[in-house]
Amino acid sequence: MSEHQLGGRLCICVGAGGVGKTTVAAALARARAERGQRVAVVTIDPAPRLAQALGLDELSGEPRRVATGAGELWAMRLDPKRTLDDLIASLAADEGVRERALSNRIYRELSGAVAGSQEFSAVAKLYELDRDGGFDSIVLDTPPSRNALDFLDAPARLMRFFDGRALRMLVAQGGLAGRASAPFLGVLGRLTGAGVLREIAAFFVAIGGMLDGLAARAAAVETLLRDPATTFVVVTSPRRAVVEETIAFAHELRAAKLTLAALIVNRVHPAGAPLPPAGALSEALGERLAALVAASVKARDLRAAADQSGLALLREAFEGLATVVIPELEGELEDLAGLERLALYLEPRPGSSTVGSPSVAQ
Ligand SMILES: Nc1ncnc2c1ncn2[C@@H]1O[C@H](COP(=O)(O)OP(=O)(O)OP(=O)(O)O)[C@@H](O)[C@H]1O
Ligand SMILES: [Mg+2]
Repeated sequence: MSEHQLGGRLCICVGAGGVGKTTVAAALARARAERGQRVAVVTIDPAPRLAQALGLDELSGEPRRVATGAGELWAMRLDPKRTLDDLIASLAADEGVRERALSNRIYRELSGAVAGSQEFSAVAKLYELDRDGGFDSIVLDTPPSRNALDFLDAPARLMRFFDGRALRMLVAQGGLAGRASAPFLGVLGRLTGAGVLREIAAFFVAIGGMLDGLAARAAAVETLLRDPATTFVVVTSPRRAVVEETIAFAHELRAAKLTLAALIVNRVHPAGAPLPPAGALSEALGERLAALVAASVKARDLRAAADQSGLALLREAFEGLATVVIPELEGELEDLAGLERLALYLEPRPGSSTVGSPSVAQ
């Protein structure tokens, strides 16, 4: 990890829902591009304005270049179904096998459900971009996750689907309808009627020749996840409920021997200037207005204090880990200028393991 860079060459932004993963991933990528790197950022569900700023108005499974200064910023939106289709297509021995696999009814129904495992698509895409994209670094946004193992399990889950264990079990159990214990079993329930077994057989024939390739890819993806250059950046809010989830999640990452690069505590409410003495306030504003101002300052201070206590818990749980504190920022963040403002907090200051604005109480 470069001393001026937060996170490794490959950077996976993880964390609870709504804490700022997508925004931070885009800002991190932008900061790297500003330092001259050729960077790809893979986002999931960016806000419409952010998507527009990144040139992602439409779902785009291919990186598109964003106009920036020094380096190159390439952005793409994760398209799980397409990622899976591309993977299958790349493993097919020839055009005919490819067509038969992709047009198979069982594949078409089930791949949607498997592709629904965004964790797998995300890491599969990371692998592909790393291998073929010629990028200096890649920043990956992820869906809200509660379980770090969703990432590590993803390759194995995909294999379980494709080697047909789930399907075979279902057929052996005597029918396809009405068994909805897993998402794709629910999809299977709809596939009743003549010809289904024939389609299943055709599915196995089409996929059969790719199993070794799929297993190799799943193993390669897992190896990449465990590579020290692949680092996890945990994004969190300082709110108590989220802090607890974050601590559990980050411990899980470490227990799984994944590399935890940094903790980003986002949207921390700063403590403001203290109020003038009550007498001076009411003299200047009148009793009623002074009371309103005092109440709102008190609410602000309580929120700031609560955030500081969440922050303290996080620091205690992750002593020694680089911690970035980003304040609650005013104004538009969902454009390139907004990302640049956010990126200022993501640049480590020399000689400190803690980065973030000195204006935020830490
Ligand atoms: N430091 C900040 N100050 C103010 N607003 C912020 C800050 N960081 C992020 N936001 C805003 O918070 C909202 C949620 O951010 P974002 O979409 O990046 O979260 P997320 O973790 O990706 O959410 P999800 O889990 O739904 O994917 C956005 O409107 C974003 O502009
Ligand atoms: Mg998001």
